[in-house]
Amino acid sequence: MSWLRDFQFGAVARVEFGIGIARRAGAIIRDLNARSALLMTDAGLYRLGIAEPAEAALREAGIRVEVFDGVVTEPTLPSVEAAVARFREAQCDVVVGLGGGSSMDSAKAVSLLLGNGGRFTDYTERRVGTEWKRDKIPSKKGPDIVTVPTTAGTGADVTAGAGVFDPETGVKGWAGGPMVRPTVAICDPLLSASMPPRVTADTGMDALSQALEALLTLKFNPYADAILLRATRDIIRYLPQAFANGQNLEARAAMMAAATMVGTVFPTRNLIHVHTYAEVLGDLTHLPHGRLIGLMLPHVLEWSAIGCADRLAEIAPALDENVAGLSTRDAADRALAAVRRLGQEVEMTDPLSTLGATEAQMRECARRVYSQHTPRSIGGPRGFRSEEETLALLMRAF
Ligand SMILES: [Fe+2]
Repeated sequence: MSWLRDFQFGAVARVEFGIGIARRAGAIIRDLNARSALLMTDAGLYRLGIAEPAEAALREAGIRVEVFDGVVTEPTLPSVEAAVARFREAQCDVVVGLGGGSSMDSAKAVSLLLGNGGRFTDYTERRVGTEWKRDKIPSKKGPDIVTVPTTAGTGADVTAGAGVFDPETGVKGWAGGPMVRPTVAICDPLLSASMPPRVTADTGMDALSQALEALLTLKFNPYADAILLRATRDIIRYLPQAFANGQNLEARAAMMAAATMVGTVFPTRNLIHVHTYAEVLGDLTHLPHGRLIGLMLPHVLEWSAIGCADRLAEIAPALDENVAGLSTRDAADRALAAVRRLGQEVEMTDPLSTLGATEAQMRECARRVYSQHTPRSIGGPRGFRSEEETLALLMRAF
């Protein structure tokens, strides 16, 4: 880490955070001069009444609400395109994504398409040689995006991008930029209180991994460091509590804030191979993103450690490890042990093979990861030297 290196910290989404704040969603959205909202969520959440406080608040504030509950767990191009059509038909002027990463990413994708036209795939990044390229960059701002997270993990409430799965190619494509940054994130921990323990663990491990991966890239960013270390401390402390008792509102609030804080800064630092694997595994197995992250995290960290022991040692206190007087290597080992212990506490223990993943999928995953790993290796502590090595690391989680 060096003060002689460049860094950036720029515009971020406005965050309105508070227990019960969803009931103020109407006033917050009316301040955007909106009259008609497309409320995007998934049918399961909607049936459980989780959208009710925000929806009622919008109606009470005189905002017309068009509900689109066709968000699917892995947002797909057809579901996003259906929502775009509904937005136009109903003449909405703001898009509200209420739910987990899928609902919020869907809302961002809808705004991107309304503002810029074309198809989502025109804007997605793909690898050409050793670089990521895209045909078009979203250059115009679509309708305001308001996010209302009901999980605590992805950071999709504040990140300026969306991932959408294309059933034709079998690949999830990512598109984004400053024009698709949410205008406001309304973060109400009460909405996350009914999240089941399994989802709490999966999404919470995603937040932890995004924090640790961003801290372990070789990029320098002191703003990001401060926020990521604080978030790491809260996740280590509160994720087990939220997992043990979903009604523990202090734990829910700490987790929701931590996830949002990580989402605000991790894009400035990029991520390492935990996400490279999890994204490809997601395309192949359709297992939940956070579960794949939680399974890969300890293994990728252990494998990466020789390239970033000093950094792991610096992070160890944020993982609640007392490392005073220890050597760098011993302190780094304590950081790795803390991550493994958290995984066990939240029962991130079933390997990929018991979740239905196949060996053929592992081989295909290793092939794809190895062929596209270069961009992340540039900023990461350790790069792959062969496809066999890529597969061997993956098989530790199988
Ligand atoms: Fe993630």
